[in-house]
Amino acid sequence: MPRKPPTSGRSRTPDRRDERARDERPGGSARKPGAKPGAKPGARSGAKPGAKPGAKPGAKPGAAPVTKPVAKTAALFDVEVACLPGLVEVLQAEVRARLGEGGALDAAPPQRRGPVGREDALALRVTEHGRAALHELRTAVAVERVRRFAVPRPKALLGDAVLRDLLGEIQAVVAAAAAARAPFTALRLEAAGRESPVMRRLAAALAAGVGLPEDPEDGDLRVRVRPDDGGWAVLVRTTRRPLSARGWRVCDRPGGLNASLAAAVPWLARPARGVQALNAFAGSGTLAIELALADPGARVDGVDLDADAVACAERNASAAGVEGRVRFAVGDATSLGAADGSVRLLLADPPWGDAVGAHADNRELYPAFLAEAARVVAPGGRLALVTHEVALVHELLEGSAGAAWRTVHERRVWHGGHHPLLLVVERLPASGGEGRRRSGGGREPRSGRVLT
Ligand SMILES: C[S@@+](CC[C@H](N)C(=O)[O-])C[C@H]1O[C@@H](n2cnc3c(N)ncnc32)[C@H](O)[C@@H]1O
Repeated sequence: MPRKPPTSGRSRTPDRRDERARDERPGGSARKPGAKPGAKPGARSGAKPGAKPGAKPGAKPGAAPVTKPVAKTAALFDVEVACLPGLVEVLQAEVRARLGEGGALDAAPPQRRGPVGREDALALRVTEHGRAALHELRTAVAVERVRRFAVPRPKALLGDAVLRDLLGEIQAVVAAAAAARAPFTALRLEAAGRESPVMRRLAAALAAGVGLPEDPEDGDLRVRVRPDDGGWAVLVRTTRRPLSARGWRVCDRPGGLNASLAAAVPWLARPARGVQALNAFAGSGTLAIELALADPGARVDGVDLDADAVACAERNASAAGVEGRVRFAVGDATSLGAADGSVRLLLADPPWGDAVGAHADNRELYPAFLAEAARVVAPGGRLALVTHEVALVHELLEGSAGAAWRTVHERRVWHGGHHPLLLVVERLPASGGEGRRRSGGGREPRSGRVLT
């Protein structure tokens, strides 16, 4: 019988924690200012990208570009598109692929927002057409409409003209959601000092103005107020839930990945279209399902030691409509059963040693898995790994396990209180039989259904 891996009750599943973590990041309400109120938001903030050189995401999985050219007279809207910190370059690549430079985007390139090195949003100017397309972004966490007001204090947001302007903006979001049959139910104001009398009055005025109750904790119409380069910006999230909270997730597991992070993996690993991939440590199936959704030709076999995880992943795949291309089975990631050198893309989110598994066990599990990965991945094929065992993975790859791999991409991402590593390595041609080693650390493979 496959051994059930140890778990605790903690989850890394996408939810308001990731969303809140973004708003609560150090300096969250005092970001590096971008464009001046009323100024063209495409102006550069001067924020430096945090990713390593050569780490440019290039593939365009599943992105159908919006090709409509921007008419000179087309109305343009200021928006911010948020992502997990660490993924802004991937988001930027996806925005370009979907909206096209000079297509449904204004000519100015998206401007990164957030603390340097932890940018978590792109400020864009888009047409109405492009704005609708933003909801299709898979590496985004939220889309917000932005209004900037050149007023010195938030109290001025309560002035007649400004409030009317603001309510018009929020009402447009409310009407669009109602038309899409996903109506908002209550308004929530987020701001530094949101308990202050001014913010309380503003929240009450906005809620009354759009005809919704106010719910400071759980309101799904999220309105944020923040200082903005000498003035104030008001940002209205356009969807009831974060975009990363996928409709397909009907089943959850401890350690479930944020789907927007899983969606970034194909952008970084760049598999060929129609890839046949393997997903070790599949859990609730996030990596496998997001790959299948990004590439309608992709097929993925996922394995997990835990039969409950397999059942959960199958339910999610079915809800995502990819069950014909994504299969899950009970199996041991250290004994995958695939033929030597047969896999073009291996996706893996092994236990991080806290929500799932234990650090001590990982010292055996990781080397054994890396040895198995080196055996099954074809020369030139890739392993994409998401893990919080950062030191362990570096130690292993700097040791003998590293001889099998060339690092293609490496970045750290902020994810629900963790700071995991997203690593893509490419299999080097085997030399002297090193790729055929059975296991590292003397670990015996566990039983489980073998994939063919
Ligand atoms: C971090 S979780 C994966 C979460 C997954 N990415 C998701 O979004 O739900 C790690 C998974 O590895 C599984 N696991 C632990 N040891 C394993 C092994 N030796 N072989 C296969 N799966 C294993 C656990 O059951 C757990 O589901």
